[in-house]
Amino acid sequence: MHRTNTCGELDTSFVGKEITLIGWADTVRDHGNVTFVDLRDRYGITQVVIDHKKSEELASLAKKIRKEFILKIKGIVKNRPSGTEKKDLFTGAIEVDSSVVEIVSESLPLPIDLTGRTETNDDMMLKYRYLALRKPELQKNIIMRHKVVKLVRDYLDGNGFVEIETPILAKSTPEGARDYLVPSRVNPGKFYALPQSPQLFKQLLMIGGFDKYFQITKCFRDEDLRADRQPEFSQIDIEMSFLEQKDLMELTEGLVKKIWKEFLGIDLVTPFPVLDYTDAIKIYGVDRPDTRFEMLLVDLTEEMGKSEFNAFNNVVLNKGIIKAINVKGKADFSRKEISEFEDFVKIYKANGLANLKMVGGKLDGTIAKFFTEEQLQKVVEKTSAEEGDLILICAGKEKVVNDGLGYLRVHLGKKLGLIKKNQFNFLWVNDFPMFEWDETEGKISAVHHPFTSPKPEHLELFETEPLKMKANAYDLVLNGYELAGGSIRIHDPKIQSKVFKTIGLSEEEAKQKFGFFLEAFNYGAPIHGGLGFGLDRLIMLITGAESLREVIAFPKNKAAISLMDNSPSEVTDKQLEELHIKLDIVVEEKK
Ligand code: AMO
Repeated sequence: MHRTNTCGELDTSFVGKEITLIGWADTVRDHGNVTFVDLRDRYGITQVVIDHKKSEELASLAKKIRKEFILKIKGIVKNRPSGTEKKDLFTGAIEVDSSVVEIVSESLPLPIDLTGRTETNDDMMLKYRYLALRKPELQKNIIMRHKVVKLVRDYLDGNGFVEIETPILAKSTPEGARDYLVPSRVNPGKFYALPQSPQLFKQLLMIGGFDKYFQITKCFRDEDLRADRQPEFSQIDIEMSFLEQKDLMELTEGLVKKIWKEFLGIDLVTPFPVLDYTDAIKIYGVDRPDTRFEMLLVDLTEEMGKSEFNAFNNVVLNKGIIKAINVKGKADFSRKEISEFEDFVKIYKANGLANLKMVGGKLDGTIAKFFTEEQLQKVVEKTSAEEGDLILICAGKEKVVNDGLGYLRVHLGKKLGLIKKNQFNFLWVNDFPMFEWDETEGKISAVHHPFTSPKPEHLELFETEPLKMKANAYDLVLNGYELAGGSIRIHDPKIQSKVFKTIGLSEEEAKQKFGFFLEAFNYGAPIHGGLGFGLDRLIMLITGAESLREVIAFPKNKAAISLMDNSPSEVTDKQLEELHIKLDIVVEEKK
């Protein structure tokens, strides 16, 4: 190595020793006769002193040093003069008195600020990602990711799991998003789909007898992006044979417990609480509840559904619901603030947000006059309203009300500081519905993927009321994020074909899409199940990062673009020709 030590390891035990360091000049302070450089590498920062009086060569070299130059320094480790030590720095008690300084690499002034003192816009940070990666916070997150992955591998290996790679160029797997397609040059007109998950392959590995599989793998989904979604992300993908649901839950809890102990020093209490999907929606409005604070949703359909207030009456007549949250002690929210909350629920298609305030011992507000004293008293009881409370009420279709109030609850929890830091509320959400009505497609679709097994006691509902069927499906939720999702799979081909039929996939289509997969189930398919863990989300939550971008070395922006290398990008006409692809973009632009 060109160095004897790193910039993060020298302390007073090295005093008197001659060492060589290489690193980036983090700060350069020119004091006339002496230059101080904080030399930085992945391991830390060490103060280097260049005394100009030692030689003219040293003096003229010191004058050339700028921030982010890479320097090679030979010198003697010394105690820092008394009173100048830095207690919060591991190397803060020493400095290096340099005798030889070499500029290994020069740097232009950086286009982004690494110190966080001035704001650099997100796009610039992504364009110059290789520079942003020099930031210690980012490095810490990426290194944490490496350590967690190592622990995961060791844990699963210790539990008898085998890591097996599955193809990236493959056939489409239905996970609910659009596929990224890759054209095949040697098979003109044909496309691979990048896997949305290795779902089909891991099930086939069970049929292949591997019993316990895992893989830390990339998944690709063309979907709308947000802070906790990237178009390519990583999963800790797990599958095992002859399991019961509780085995998988125990295995997962053991893994999470180990990670939290190792990296955060926290002893998580297991087993994690389990919440039925129906209850999650009823109480929190969403299937990934943040249980760190209350403000639960209360159903007021009965209490407010029949009154002089026609807007609510009509909702109930159209089979809608009325629900509310009690924002404790916030009757003093301004009209402007409340109208902001109304705009918030409108994102989820709600028509509006009514409010009642508990003042002078009773509920007051523009809609109060439409209700009898008795009705309002019932609302007080049901919402546990006390003096100074604000009741926000939403009426509409079930999904709209639950989404609107559920997400508003989380928004208010954050805004009002109701969420304690360093609190990790894990829970399992269980017994998801098997199917749902897809408004946009106008047909029934599978809530998890269509290989999820229905509850045996609901099998007879296939023909009559499929939307009432529950599945052996579970999600692991942490602080309002879906961290992992999985299910016990179908291993009976007859049930599998009923699922396809229910979601409107003809036998012909099913055969064309998953023929190879369905055939495999005729040759002794074990009972099996598993789950997929969002690795990026896991690291985001452990590190306290606010977005997946902070835990992925080279992330994409909201438009799925990598601003650094400018992908996706155009390809040459020759490449398109080879692939037999003709673009119709020009035609569209003309339209
Ligand atoms: P699912 O689709 O629930 O299940 O995905 C599993 C987990 O992957 C993470 N995740 C994402 N993370 C970042 N960006 C995304 N776009 C993204 N999409 C999903 C989430 C989620 O909980 N094959 C099944 C698993 C199984 O049934 O075994 C699957 O992929 O944390």
